Amino acid sequence: MDAFVIEGGRPVSGRFEVHGSKNAALPMLAAALLTDGPLELSDVPKLQDIQNMLRLLAELGVEIDEPDDGPGLRAGGRTIRTRVTDASQSHARYDIVRTMRAGVCVLGPMLARRGEARISMPGGCAIGPRPIDLHLKGLAALGASVSLSNGDVIAKAPAGGLRGATVFLGGPFGSTVLGTANIMSAATLARGRTVIESAACEPEIVDLGRLLISMGARISGLGTPRIVVDGVAELGGATRRIMPDRIEAGTYAMAAAMTGGELTIANWPVDALLGPFEMLRAAGLEVELGEHEPLDTPGGDPIRTTAFVRRTERLRPIELTTQPFPGFPTDLQAQALAMLTLADGNSIITEKIFPERFLHVAELMRMGARIIRHGPTAVVSGVPKLVGAPVMASDLRASAGLVLAGLAARGQTVVRRVYHLDRGYQRMDEYLTGLGAKIERVKEEALEELAVPV
Ligand code: EPU
Repeated sequence: MDAFVIEGGRPVSGRFEVHGSKNAALPMLAAALLTDGPLELSDVPKLQDIQNMLRLLAELGVEIDEPDDGPGLRAGGRTIRTRVTDASQSHARYDIVRTMRAGVCVLGPMLARRGEARISMPGGCAIGPRPIDLHLKGLAALGASVSLSNGDVIAKAPAGGLRGATVFLGGPFGSTVLGTANIMSAATLARGRTVIESAACEPEIVDLGRLLISMGARISGLGTPRIVVDGVAELGGATRRIMPDRIEAGTYAMAAAMTGGELTIANWPVDALLGPFEMLRAAGLEVELGEHEPLDTPGGDPIRTTAFVRRTERLRPIELTTQPFPGFPTDLQAQALAMLTLADGNSIITEKIFPERFLHVAELMRMGARIIRHGPTAVVSGVPKLVGAPVMASDLRASAGLVLAGLAARGQTVVRRVYHLDRGYQRMDEYLTGLGAKIERVKEEALEELAVPV
C-alpha cells in the first residue's frame, strides 16, 4: 500500500487543468451495454474506479479500445472506444463489483438490452450504508421481477421487454444519483413513456442523458426533478466529451485557498460549481471566472472556463449544509471541513446526504483541528495552524481532506492508505508537486526505513 509523505506549508500555485468527471464517466461507460454501435468517450480520467468499470464491461462482452496515455501529466485526450461483441453474459461478479460500488450502473442497461441482469449486491462502505432499494423499486415499476439469491440481485424483464411507468425516486435523503442513471438508461429501451419523479438533478446525470440522446434516446427534463423518457426500439453509437470533474476542480481550488496559493484552473465546470463557490466565497475564497458562454445557452452542454482562485485574508467561518445539486455537494464536504479548520471562528457543517460521512474528523483532530461532532453536524472551531501528524485515509473524499490539511500544516504529515484517493484523483501527488507542494508517494513498508513517525 502507498502513503503520501507531505511537508506542509508551501503554497499550491500555478496552473491546473481539470480532468473528465469520474462520476459522469462511470454510468456513461455502462451505457455501452445499451447498444451494438460504437461509443467513443473522450476525457475519460485514468482512475482505479474507471479501470475497474472497464474490466467489468470486458467481462460482460464489451470490446474496449483504450489507448496508452504515455508518460507525463496530461488532462484531456484519453479517448475510450467501446463496442459490444458478445451479449450472452449478464452476471456482474462479486470480485469486481465489491471493488467499486458504481458497478451497480450496469444493472439498468444490462436489464434493458439483455432482458436479465445479475449483479452482486453492493455492500456498505466507509461513508455509511449504501442501499439500492430505490434502484430496485424503479426497475420493478418498469415491469422487472427482482429477487435476491446468494448475495446477488437478479432482475428479469417481462416477456416483451420493460414497459414505461411513473417512477418516484425520492428516498429519506432525497433522490439517488446512480438510481436515476439506472432507471433513465433502462427506460430508453422500454415500451412507452417513463416519468421519473424526484429524479437527481446532478450535472453528471445531465451529461449521461445527453449521451443517451445522441445515441437516439428520447429524453426531456434533464437537470430537473422530472425526467420524461419515451422508449425507442434501439440505440446507436455516439461520441461525447465527458464533463469536467467538479469535485476535482473544487478540491484543487481549496488546496490553493488553504495554502495561500494562487491557482489558475482550466476546464472549470462553471454551471456545476456556481452554488458551492458562492458559499465558499463567503469563507474568503476568491474565484474569478474567465470568459464563458451565458448560463442559459440552450443545449445543456457543460459550460467550461478558466477560473483564477486565491485567498487574500484569513479564512472566515461559514455555515454549510450538503444537499443534492445545486446545493453544496457531499463529495466536497471533507475538503471544506478541512479548510474551515483554519478559519477565524466557528463553522457549522451539516451532512444531509451521508450523515455518517465524518471519518476525517478524528484524523484532522490529530493534526490540531478543533471539531465537535453531533450526529450529522460538526462544529469546527478554527485554529491559526494545523500541525503535521501521521493520519489514515478511510474513504476517497476524506483522504482528499487529509491531503489538503497536510499541505497547509506545519511540519510533516503522513497519509496512509492513499489507494482510496487514487480511486478518484488522477496522480494527485504528481500534480501537486508540479504546483509547488512537497509531497512524496512511498510504500507504507518503507516508512519505517525512512524513520517517518507512524
Ligand atoms: N439511497 C437510498 N436508497 C437507494 C439509493 C440511495 O436510501 O436506493 C440514499 C443513500 O444512502 C444516500 C442518498 O440516498 O443517503 C444519496 O445516495 P445516491 O444514490 O445519490 O448516491 P450514489 O448514486 O450511490 C453518487 C456518487 C457519490 C456521491 C453521491 C451523492 C457516483 C459513482 N457516486 O453515489 O460519489 O457522494 O452520488 O452525490 O456517482 C464519490 O465520488 O466520492 C462518491 C461517493
